Amino acid sequence: MTLWSGRFDTAPDPAAFDFGVSFGFDRALFEDDVAGSLAWADALGAAGVLSESDTRAIIDGLRAILEEGRRDPAYLAGPDEDVHSFVERKLVERIGDAGRRLHTGRSRNEQVSLDLRLYLRRRIPALQAALASLVAACADQAERAGSALMPSYTHLRRAQPVLVAHYFLGHAAALRRDHGRLGAAAEEADALTLGSGAVAGTSYPIDTDRLARALGFSRLVRNSLDASSDRDFVASFLYAAAVAMVHLSRLAEDLIIFTGEEHGFFNLADASATGSSMMPQKKNPDPLELVRGKAGRAIGRLTGWLVTMKGLPSGYNKDLQEDKEAVFDAEATLLASLGATRAVVARLSLDAGRTERAASGLLLATDVADYLVARGMPFRRAHEVVGAMVRRLLAEGRDFSQLTREEWREASEMFGADAPRAATALASVQARRTPQSTNPEAVRVALEECRAWVGTVLHSENSFPYPT
Ligand code: ARG
Repeated sequence: MTLWSGRFDTAPDPAAFDFGVSFGFDRALFEDDVAGSLAWADALGAAGVLSESDTRAIIDGLRAILEEGRRDPAYLAGPDEDVHSFVERKLVERIGDAGRRLHTGRSRNEQVSLDLRLYLRRRIPALQAALASLVAACADQAERAGSALMPSYTHLRRAQPVLVAHYFLGHAAALRRDHGRLGAAAEEADALTLGSGAVAGTSYPIDTDRLARALGFSRLVRNSLDASSDRDFVASFLYAAAVAMVHLSRLAEDLIIFTGEEHGFFNLADASATGSSMMPQKKNPDPLELVRGKAGRAIGRLTGWLVTMKGLPSGYNKDLQEDKEAVFDAEATLLASLGATRAVVARLSLDAGRTERAASGLLLATDVADYLVARGMPFRRAHEVVGAMVRRLLAEGRDFSQLTREEWREASEMFGADAPRAATALASVQARRTPQSTNPEAVRVALEECRAWVGTVLHSENSFPYPT
């Protein structure tokens, strides 16, 4: 028995009906569905559409259903088409005819959109908390690294020395934007759809402002037709999840490279690695590779959803049902990837000897050029002078630290006795001046600010005012 069987004179063909059944996955919306129905029953009662006793019976029935579903996950089962049909069936079984009045003036089209909005607002804070705890792990690594130096790269070629702490805070900065993007997706979902009816609005005198407040929404959707057609808030969530996965993937890629034999900058803890079934010496960064791999999946969820939406005519279309598996999968993928990445980052140990050796040598060329610029040489000219020095040093297999006083002079009259001191990795980072730079004092301030941010978001992270 479906919610719509009255209009039909034959039972549905299982091959067609089963294809559309969504209860297998939309049961994840159970709590949200019941919360929405509780508020809807209350609104119908307040509007005088339901009698006081029916309203009471429905509310008590829904509360009991919610409790039972929370207590026993196996309760969420049956031949129902979707979670909405399930809740209504359970309600009618419990309270009889009054239960048949709950759906007055309401459509599943607005209901499913409401449920998903409630769901996202309820679940996004957990993703944000997991992001914040990865940011905290990056901050811990930054703190532990102290004044250790490493090379930074452009084109994956050594570029300029940076503090290891600066490197970790770089990833933290990106992850903090992901936190913000998830927050923006939750805000976009913050609009009440009830009152939209199937597509044209409802004909009962529902106080939608009161209903919005009861469900913790700060506003109403603007247009009922748009509300039944539109799921771009889902795309925004999938986008936020996909970008976060892209960031995790890039962090994973860095760590795969940096923990490998060729770099050896960090040691991957045994607990974060896996072995080979054949090669006894192997210690593989499987968790990091999986995170990198799963980024493709999260991007696929976003792309797939955009493609699903692009050809839909105005109004509700069943294609929209495809949104839920995309959301649940992207959410689970991101949450699991955040947990795995945090675990790996937390257990990394730095080999400062190796990073510092890699941060010395010819990557100080820009600093040597800056030395000349500070003494009046135009930068373009200094670039040429130092370029010639680099060419020679490369040919001889040496670096700036091995140049004699005469050789400095030969390269340019402007090099004084202090030139070799300017050509060290430490002098290089100390020479940086801007707040976003790797200057040790700037990095100290940045680390403190990052810690303060983690403190604020982890403590303010909270569920929105959710009914029940
Ligand atoms: N399971 C459906 C969905 O996710 C619920 C809405 C069904 N509405 C309808 N008119 N068939 O979109």
